[in-house]
Parts: sequence; structure tokens; C-alpha cells
Amino acid sequence: MNTSENSVIEFMLGRRSTIARLLGEPGPDDDALETILRAGARVPDHGKLAPWRFLIIRGNARKALGSAMALAFQTANSQADAERLDHERGLALRAPVIVTVISKAAQHRKIPKWEQELSAGAVCQNVLAAAIAMGYGAQWVTEWWAYDAGAAKVLGLGDDEKIAGFIHIGTHDGPVADRPRPVMADIVTEWTGEN
Ligand SMILES: Cc1cc2nc3c(=O)[nH]c(=O)nc-3n(C[C@H](O)[C@H](O)[C@H](O)COP(=O)(O)O)c2cc1C
Repeated sequence: MNTSENSVIEFMLGRRSTIARLLGEPGPDDDALETILRAGARVPDHGKLAPWRFLIIRGNARKALGSAMALAFQTANSQADAERLDHERGLALRAPVIVTVISKAAQHRKIPKWEQELSAGAVCQNVLAAAIAMGYGAQWVTEWWAYDAGAAKVLGLGDDEKIAGFIHIGTHDGPVADRPRPVMADIVTEWTGEN
């Protein structure tokens, strides 16, 4: 089968993200979101630990999140001026729906934490790809939110939990510019065992 006869491969070869600030209404409704999350949870997961969870942020909750994040930013950056705080407040409002993927990787007798975290990355990619396949625009971002103790508190993260990504999902009707992709010859080698 050549690639043009395989719509999944064609999609994978052409998929691209849309930057969050271009993502307007509509976002996915409850049914569409459920489909996106089910696709997100269908990932390789060594040990069947499901070492991740979803936290959905949408509607008015985004405003509350923006205010809380601006406060967290101010706490960590006492010099921040009003303009900067306004910018931080607005970040949560860029897209109608944010799917937060939270890694719950923990010490396990057999499965390394690294593998559990990789599985959370796969969840992010599946959420992103599912949303784009369903006709939405989407972007995987972390911002400083993913690495700030104040932000973790706002989002109710447990001690062992980390943000893998905030997948912003919405609608963008215009064209989306692609970005340069790696040259395959630069990243592919073959191990032949011959040395
Ligand atoms: C873990 C992770 C975190 C990211 N965080 C950000 C971010 O905070 N801000 C940003 O502008 N892009 C971020 N990006 C990159 C965007 O998702 C970017 O749009 C993406 O690399 C475009 O690739 P694509 O078109 O192949 O989907 C992040 C990517 C990854 C994998």
C-alpha cells in the first residue's frame, strides 16, 4: 500500500500544531472531548500502571486559572509590572479547552520512572493528534506553569505528580504555517554490528 492510500499515514506525515493564541471557539464539546481523552488514554504503558491523569480546564475556570497563575507569577517575580501580569493572566484564555496531562510516575519495583514519564508524553501526543484529526487546532505547551511550585499548588498536583503538557484545543480557520522538519539523513543511522 502506498502512503496516499493510507489516511492515517497521510495524517501523520502532514499533522502540525496551531499556536495556542490562534485557537478560538468552538472547542470540543463533551462528546468530542470524551473521544479525545479516550484516544489519549490508549497509549503504550509498561506494567499497565496508567501513570497519568487528565485535568480539564475550560469555560469560566480559565479566568480563575489566569488570575491564580498571575498571582503565582507575581509571587515568584516580585518585580513583574502590571503589563506582564496582564499577559500572564491572559495565557489561560488562549484556547477554549485545555487538557492538562499530569504524570503520576512513582517508584515501582519493576517499571522505571522514566518509562512511566514517556508514557505520559505519549498521552500528550495522542490527545494532540486526536484533536487535530477531529478538525480542531491544538498545541502542546508547558510554559513556566509546568515547573513552578505555586502553579502546581493552584492545579492541585500531588507530591509525586508533574505536568507533562497543557494541550490547548480550539478552532482556527486560516492556514497554519509548517515549521522546518528534521532532515531524515541527519537523524537516521543503521547499526549493522560490523563496526
Ligand atoms: C513537552 C513540550 C512542551 C512544549 N512547550 C511549549 C511552550 O511552552 N511554548 C511553546 O510555544 N511551544 C511549546 N512546545 C512546542 C509546541 O508544541 C510547538 O507548537 C510544536 O513543537 C510544533 O510541532 P508540530 O507542528 O509538529 O506539532 C512544546 C513542545 C513539547 C513537546
